[in-house]
Amino acid sequence: MFDMFSQEAPSYQANSNSSSRGDTFVISVGGSLLVKEGPDAQKISEFAQVISSLHSSGKRIVLVVGGGRIARDYVEALGVFGANNFEKDMIGIKVTRLNALLVANSLEKAHKEVLEDIGRAKEILDAGKIPVYGGLVPLFTTDAVGALLAEFLGATFVNLTNVDGIYDSNPRDNPDAKRFDKIGYSRLVSLISANVSVPGQNVVLDLPCCLVLQRSKIPAAVLDGNDLSNFSSFVNGSSFIGTEIGDFEDFVPEDSVDEEPKAVKKRKIKKPKNVRGKKEYDDSFSVADVDRMKL
Ligand code: UTP
Repeated sequence: MFDMFSQEAPSYQANSNSSSRGDTFVISVGGSLLVKEGPDAQKISEFAQVISSLHSSGKRIVLVVGGGRIARDYVEALGVFGANNFEKDMIGIKVTRLNALLVANSLEKAHKEVLEDIGRAKEILDAGKIPVYGGLVPLFTTDAVGALLAEFLGATFVNLTNVDGIYDSNPRDNPDAKRFDKIGYSRLVSLISANVSVPGQNVVLDLPCCLVLQRSKIPAAVLDGNDLSNFSSFVNGSSFIGTEIGDFEDFVPEDSVDEEPKAVKKRKIKKPKNVRGKKEYDDSFSVADVDRMKL
């Protein structure tokens, strides 16, 4: 595997209109966006308003809600009492479901029960409702659950998190980290895999999630969940800021003589303006151990 961090991030133009986004979206929303020390009712309401408006405009939407900092606190506390990884994951899943219950209750059109069966999403969508999920199985994250839902439904996957995309190195540590405007599946998987063995080099999505995206070529994006109008733009097929994941050609270095770098254009190095500080960035990462492939 070549070293992902020794190369320039691909340099695409700002993301533009795309007709390939379809009308069904699985939104994985980081728990840290909606629950801080406790539930942030204001944030949850703002999120619910945007989701309701997209739903009223005809979009079919599935929500998967993460655990955020509270999940991590519970996992750590359980660890003090000698819990094993399975037990820690199970308490993490319970917290995600508690957060999901709050979100379901904030949305008039949501199916009010937090779902535990991916197979039910279709019938609930067909009934005009918004299915809401938390976590499902140990080892996974809610992002991986979202990817599986998108695979099942033929939907576009969106991860709303505390950063405005995927970077070529951790923007928490490296102020010169560069954001990918677009990234291909194989490069994404390489990037994530390379970081599995590097403690602290966290990236936004976990490996199981990326493998599901790759195997079914699921259109996907990582967006800043604090910028909900940007999120709406993405869903509505307009220009947006973030990282689009798709069947894109891998980056071709500019000095390559063998291949024409037709998809590669120079762009300015962007600093991670939406990283609001170490603590919040940490909250968007998995609470699970590195040896369980959580990044
Ligand atoms: P999250 O998916 O919320 O992790 O699950 P996260 O990425 O750290 O948090 P966000 O993005 O800020 O919301 C929280 C924890 O719950 C367990 C894992 O321990 C995970 O780290 N979990 C969650 C599972 O074991 N399986 C799941 O399907 C989901």
